[in-house]
Amino acid sequence: MKQLADIRNEMRQFVHVSDHDVVRMLRQNSLVNDSLRHSAVQLSAEWVDFIRTASRSNLMDIFMAEYGLSTDEGIALMCLAEALLRVPDSETIDALIEDKIAPSNWSAHLGHSASPLVNASTWALMLTGRVLDDNSSMAGVLHGAIKRLGEPAIRRAVRRAMRELGKQFVLGRNMTEAIRKGKAARELGYTFSYDMLGEAAWTATDATVYFDAYYDATTKLAEHCFSNDIHDNPGISIKLSALFERYEEAQREKALKVLVPRVLELALVARQAGMGLNIDAEEASRLELYMDVVEAVLRHPGLADWGGFGIVVQAYGKRARFVIDWYYALAQALDRKVSLRLVKGAYWDTEIKIAQVDGVSGFPVFETKAATDISYIENASHLLKLTDRIYPQFATHNAHTVATIFTLAKDRKDYEFQKLHGMGDALYAKVLSEFNIRCRIYAPVGVHKDLLAYLVRRLLENGANSSFVHQILDPDIPVEAVVADPYTSFESARMPVKKPSDLFGRRKNSRGWDLNDRVDLAEFDEERIRFANRTYHAESITLTPTKSDETVTVINPATFEAIGTVSYASLETVKQAVRDARIWDTEPNVRANILRNAADLYEVNSGEIFALLCREAGKTQRDAIAELREAVDFLRFYAEEALNHDAEPVGIFTCISPWNFPLAIFTGQISAALAAGNAVLAKPAEATSLIAHRAVSWLLEAGVPKSVLQLLPGRGMDIGQALTSHSAVGGVCFTGSTATAQIIHRNLADHLAVNAPLIAETG
Ligand code: FAD
Ligand code: 2OP
Repeated sequence: MKQLADIRNEMRQFVHVSDHDVVRMLRQNSLVNDSLRHSAVQLSAEWVDFIRTASRSNLMDIFMAEYGLSTDEGIALMCLAEALLRVPDSETIDALIEDKIAPSNWSAHLGHSASPLVNASTWALMLTGRVLDDNSSMAGVLHGAIKRLGEPAIRRAVRRAMRELGKQFVLGRNMTEAIRKGKAARELGYTFSYDMLGEAAWTATDATVYFDAYYDATTKLAEHCFSNDIHDNPGISIKLSALFERYEEAQREKALKVLVPRVLELALVARQAGMGLNIDAEEASRLELYMDVVEAVLRHPGLADWGGFGIVVQAYGKRARFVIDWYYALAQALDRKVSLRLVKGAYWDTEIKIAQVDGVSGFPVFETKAATDISYIENASHLLKLTDRIYPQFATHNAHTVATIFTLAKDRKDYEFQKLHGMGDALYAKVLSEFNIRCRIYAPVGVHKDLLAYLVRRLLENGANSSFVHQILDPDIPVEAVVADPYTSFESARMPVKKPSDLFGRRKNSRGWDLNDRVDLAEFDEERIRFANRTYHAESITLTPTKSDETVTVINPATFEAIGTVSYASLETVKQAVRDARIWDTEPNVRANILRNAADLYEVNSGEIFALLCREAGKTQRDAIAELREAVDFLRFYAEEALNHDAEPVGIFTCISPWNFPLAIFTGQISAALAAGNAVLAKPAEATSLIAHRAVSWLLEAGVPKSVLQLLPGRGMDIGQALTSHSAVGGVCFTGSTATAQIIHRNLADHLAVNAPLIAETG
């Protein structure tokens, strides 16, 4: 048996590998052969036929059939639902409603649906759209008035619609109501895992409120545990993001200190009652921390002789197999029996978008649905071999996945299925009536204000083209397609998702570092640590060397240590630099290539940049990454712009940048001016001359001529003044305070050509 640490180390190599590599690994020694695959397709096809003819669809199903994510209107509704979640004020919500509802073609949906309620909603949305869209000249005057009258009503209507949809997924507003409402399902043989709504606590107060809700629910449920077999009793599901407001890698120590005792306290109550407690899986960035909490809690001797501790593993995650093996090894090491809920994963869209925006090397989740399905099946099959320690809980609404597990498990009873309240009803009605197997319903409990995050995940899940619950509703999709064998689909699957590096098409996205990933974090630290004690000196970089003015010490604003010195330019240096400055008289593609080279050089020197940004400008690690990436993006963006425009250069451009984005804005101003072929005189903020000096060195190393780019560090009131009032200067680019921008404006008016541009981004 491998050691826990070895499994975790190996797991870390799999965060961003390709779908194919993970699927290959999962299929080693697989029990899933052709005949089993064939049987699973046949069995699930029968079920789909049955479900399609027999089931009464609920409001959500009908709504989603009309407004899936494949229609603009469906997407507008999802956006709205998601926005309502986060927008605190009515004014902004109204603006969003206008933005999302007005442009859509609601009338195309009119009368389509079999449900009068959905048709009525369509009417409402259509009228809303009409009202908001009506900006024809005559009606223009009325438009504002109708809008003013209309928007609060619309806001209420949209909220109401969300509330109606939400009702489908929530069993009750509190535990008492939920237990009462669950009676009918219990009589049919279902058990429950209750989930107190609420997650992603923002404040310590939120976290305390959520903890109390979990605690009260667990104690209340204890009164409803009547069986000696833990798997017959109700259980509870909790989310770590609800229990601590900084559940993130950067706060690892604090998170462990708070989360471990909180989870332990709940687990001890659940153990006492003889019920199960599952810890839901959330975003992939939290996986390592999740495992740390699980291990620390499970090691507590007070949890011995209790099979109710459960984790959740997301099959769409490329590390799923390792989490299962690690958990099994942990249970063995502690001589415990445990539970494990296998899900596909509810945060797919989020994971994809985060990875793209962060510019990391790949995705922590599969890019293809077929790979997720294969992962689910292979991991389910693997779990069925580990039942001496693990009680598997297979949570899915997909008939093909359920049928495959049945076919694999044959007559075994040492596992259970799970479904979400409000989903998969017809499938499990069929399954339960034919096979005597346990099925548990995950039942959210809580009030509307805590529902939206959960609701949005369900809306996305129900609305996605690829999802089983969506496909089964669409009679135009043939049964064979709904239950298609994922192994076959995977062979022909294209990777449809844009890689993080390709997000911007022709322009390469800047490289990112994921500080939640312990491998990336170690690399980040290793790169920058080499520059932790380096001493720097900055001075003017000009074509003709001249005598500098005073030399000042640069102080780290966080530690007050001296990190170097800067010699300011003298007025003589400025005059000479202006005399020497030359426009960049080359082909645009030469300029573009040199700017791209500079971007690459910035990335090569990331360690030094991170160190210097933290030491000179007091940037946090995360901000340092964002800063470097913005600078690199500017260089690549303006390289493209150089090719897209054929404007004449203005001449000499003075660029004056602020201390708060000492690399990004500094580079952005310069690269914009250079892309158009201008000569640049760059004056960084006094406080951040060192990083500016390094940046100009890299720009020159990349190929920018020294007559085209010169650096003139110094104080605003003398060097800034001189650089903005010299009659040979053709234009100024400035970011900083409004007061300074006004001084510069007057300088320009007094000394520069009449049409000299001032590009100012001010407070
Ligand atoms: P299917 O339609 O077969 O699968 C849909 C799923 O496939 C998507 O949700 C996504 O995971 C995946 N997928 C879709 N498109 C792609 C693509 N292009 N590439 C790769 N994968 C793709 N989820 C959690 O994250 N954490 C939990 O703790 C959790 N607890 C749950 C508890 C229960 C009892 C149940 C039933 C579900 C739970 N879920 C949880 C939600 C679960 O992740 C979703 O309900 C599930 O993914 C839907 O899968 P399915 O097999 O029902 O449907
Ligand atoms: C979710 O909250 C069910 O845990 C899953 O989406």
